[in-house]
Amino acid sequence: MPDKKTLRKNVLERRNALTEKERKEKSNRIRERLISLPEYQSARSVFIYADFRSEVMTRELMKKTLKEGKRVLASKTLVAERRLLLTDILDPDRDFIAGYMDIPEPREEILRDLSPEEVDLVLTPAVGYDEKGNRLGYGGGYYDRLFERMRPEALKIGLAFEAQIIPSVPAEPHDIPIPIIVTENRVIRI
Ligand SMILES: Nc1ncnc2c1ncn2[C@@H]1O[C@H](COP(=O)(O)OP(=O)(O)OP(=O)(O)O)[C@@H](O)[C@H]1O
Ligand SMILES: [Mg+2]
Repeated sequence: MPDKKTLRKNVLERRNALTEKERKEKSNRIRERLISLPEYQSARSVFIYADFRSEVMTRELMKKTLKEGKRVLASKTLVAERRLLLTDILDPDRDFIAGYMDIPEPREEILRDLSPEEVDLVLTPAVGYDEKGNRLGYGGGYYDRLFERMRPEALKIGLAFEAQIIPSVPAEPHDIPIPIIVTENRVIRI
């Protein structure tokens, strides 16, 4: 099996090969599929990653989630502390600036440090997933550590393009699996 580093490079190349138009169209389909899930509908408080580079786009999803009366939380990467700081988002068009590695993060003025226990549902970005729910992230371990701090009954759903689904991800003991993955074509339930 290729190592995580090689896999990251290969899968990112595939994801980057999608045009902006394709990514937008597929992201719309992923959003529609997600919002039809009972697990999404019953969540009151949803952590939504802010997409960067060629990730599944989430801005429209943030707006839709707010319109439904749910809370939307997003994160700022605290590199020195090696953790994600969570804060409420009220206006996805205005609340973000470019942060660490150019990842969009909440503006300083709106930062809080909410407990991950406030999250009912976390939508995770990734480089890729396999069909067993193993997640290949960017290599910082930030999401694995966030998951450990969430309530055990909180749910994780991965958003990914089909191009990011790979035969096998080499999972390590600290890697926490993702039970539901939504792509433009299907919902993978593990
Ligand atoms: N739960 C954890 N507790 C302590 N250290 C961890 C934990 N999870 C990951 N790490 C550290 O982070 C490093 C990177 O982890 P991993 O390769 O799983 O990152 P990743 O899942 O790809 O990244 P990310 O979650 O940020 O997208 C690991 O080698 C390990 O040292
Ligand atoms: Mg990991």
